[in-house]
Amino acid sequence: MRLDRMLGNLPQGSRQLARHWLASGRIAVDGVRIADGCYPVTPFSRVTLDDQPIQTRQPRYFMLHKPGGYLSATSDPDHPTVMELLDDADSGQLHIAGRLDRASTGLLLLTDDGRWSRRLTEPERRVAKVYRVDTEDPIHPDTARRFAEGIYFDYEGITTRPVELQQLGPRQVRLTLFEGRYHQIKRMFGRFRNRVLSLHREQIGSLALDPDLAPGEYRPLTPAEVSALGD
Ligand code: URA
Repeated sequence: MRLDRMLGNLPQGSRQLARHWLASGRIAVDGVRIADGCYPVTPFSRVTLDDQPIQTRQPRYFMLHKPGGYLSATSDPDHPTVMELLDDADSGQLHIAGRLDRASTGLLLLTDDGRWSRRLTEPERRVAKVYRVDTEDPIHPDTARRFAEGIYFDYEGITTRPVELQQLGPRQVRLTLFEGRYHQIKRMFGRFRNRVLSLHREQIGSLALDPDLAPGEYRPLTPAEVSALGD
C-alpha cells in the first residue's frame, strides 16, 4: 500500500494531513525519513510521526484447518461455525476469505483486512484453489475433458472456467479451480451423476495447508505468506 493512503486512512489522519506530515519531514518508515507519498508500506512496516509510532490497527491473517461439520459463517443458529474454533481474542472482526461447504475440510483463510481478501477472491485475479475430491462412483473417462472445456451452469448462465484435473485413483482426483462458484465441484460432478463424498482444500494460490495443523487448529500467516497471497 502507498504510504500517503495508509496515513490518510488513520483515525487521526486525512489526505491533507498526510501530505503535510510527509512534506514537513515528520514521517519515518522503519527508521528512515520518507517524504514521498508513493513509498510502499506493508502492514508490518513501522511508521512513525515525530518519532512516535502511529496507531495503526495491525490487520490479522490466519489459516485454519477446517474440520467437516463446521459452517463457513460468522454465526449460525443451528450449526457450529468455524469462528467457534478460534480463541476469543482472535475471532472478533474476522471474516472468511473464500468459504468452504459445511462438510468440506481443509485450508480456510480468515482476516480482518477486507482489501486483502477481496484481492484474493476477485474472479479476475484467477487465484488457483486446489482440492482433493473423493467421489461415490468411478471418475467417468470424459470428466477431465469436460472440466477443461467448462460446464454450463443454467442458474448463473455462465460456463465455468477450465478446471485442471489430476487423477489420483479410480474415485479420487485433485482439481485446480480458478474461481469459486456456489457448490461448484459438487455441481460439476453432478453432471456425471457422481456424488462427491469428500472435498478437501489443499492450497490457495502459493499457500498450502500447513501439515502441522490438525483439523480444527489454526495459526497466523507469516508476513511472507500474507504478501505472497495479496500481491
Ligand atoms: N466446491 C464445492 O462444491 N464445495 C466446496 O466446499 C468448495 C468447492
